[in-house]
Amino acid sequence: MTNVSQALNIEDLRKMAGRRLPSFLFDYAEYGHADGAGVARNVSAFDKYQMVSRALVKCVPPETGRTIFGKRYAMPFGVSAVGGIGVFRPGAERFLAEVARDFNIPFMLSGVSVESIETVARIAPDNVWFQLYASRDVALTERIIRRAGDAGVDVLVVSVDYPIQNQSEVPPRSGVTPVGGINWQKLPAIFSDLATHPRWFADFLMSGGMPKMQSWSPYAPPGSSAKDVAKFYASVWPPNLVWNDIERIRSVWPGKLVIKGLMDPADVAKAYDVGADAVSLSNHGGNKLNIMPATIDCLQAARHAVPEGGTLFLDGGIRRGSDIMKALALGADFCFLGRAFLYGVSAGGRNGAERAMEILSNELSYTMAMLGCPEVDDVTPDRLFSSGA
Ligand SMILES: Cc1cc2nc3c(=O)[nH]c(=O)nc-3n(C[C@H](O)[C@H](O)[C@H](O)COP(=O)(O)O)c2cc1C
Repeated sequence: MTNVSQALNIEDLRKMAGRRLPSFLFDYAEYGHADGAGVARNVSAFDKYQMVSRALVKCVPPETGRTIFGKRYAMPFGVSAVGGIGVFRPGAERFLAEVARDFNIPFMLSGVSVESIETVARIAPDNVWFQLYASRDVALTERIIRRAGDAGVDVLVVSVDYPIQNQSEVPPRSGVTPVGGINWQKLPAIFSDLATHPRWFADFLMSGGMPKMQSWSPYAPPGSSAKDVAKFYASVWPPNLVWNDIERIRSVWPGKLVIKGLMDPADVAKAYDVGADAVSLSNHGGNKLNIMPATIDCLQAARHAVPEGGTLFLDGGIRRGSDIMKALALGADFCFLGRAFLYGVSAGGRNGAERAMEILSNELSYTMAMLGCPEVDDVTPDRLFSSGA
């Protein structure tokens, strides 16, 4: 049994996840596009920023809550969408929804989830947001949007960052595609990968093997297997979305609308013009293209493009509570984390997700107190260190 309570930080959970998961899965999550430089850049860019403390401030315990879209969350961060996370750990989406509910943070359910939106919304009705991957079939996209509303979701996050399929080099190298396709010539290596990660393989078999994407299963032909549903999804995604598509989505979605995956300040400004309530500055965790800058380095310019009262989120490379502080100081209203929770839940299921949450919230509280910030609103740009150069 992995003892996630011994993890002191997210890096410890990452190592535990690496020991449990077969390489074809772990590497897929780790590398993103090409050589993985984009993923690494997102993480290392945080080191460039330092923060200065103010002393003699009444700040213990710090108030870590933040209000977004009229709802008070306990922390200024949430769980980002990770597609197919139920393959990494059966039940992962349910565990994350439970942790989000119990710690009162948002959980962004991926548009390619294993669990259905209805199941997850029932677990955490006040904390689940739904991330939409629009389909090439416009009517189908609208059905999915209505389904999210019917399930009680009031925040829709539209990911717009993949005009074409992701080209990770991991599946062709490992011989296993994300939807369970196998290159039979690589079978000996795949067997050896599975044999050296028996706990993951046992869980996978005991939970019924390759899970069906419940998010897309209702739209595939009746009686479709997990593989058929994945094939159906591949036949309708990705669409090459343009701004008119966002306007159309805006016109059919009455709730809060977030556009996820913008990086350019001009795009950020335009998103609010077409009716977005928030933008999530994101390069998909460095997955989409290895030559993109780190999201944290784009944050200040993006903030300047946000109109008065507009809300800005950031994700990408956050591994510490102190990274969240830096993002807040550089202009984010709220942050999202993908891999930090992916590591936790992969390493230890529900306990691992909870451990990731404890680590991040403890680190955040500690950093706030040490910097003399009684509230999240006190994490302002003037807290950033500037050498005066
Ligand atoms: C394995 C994996 C799967 C992901 N799946 C989705 C997804 O289904 N939808 C989405 O909008 N973003 C997805 N993302 C991106 C995350 O939501 C988020 O933008 C990114 O993980 C943030 O970077 P971080 O992992 O460094 O925190 C995925 C990321 C990873 C690593």
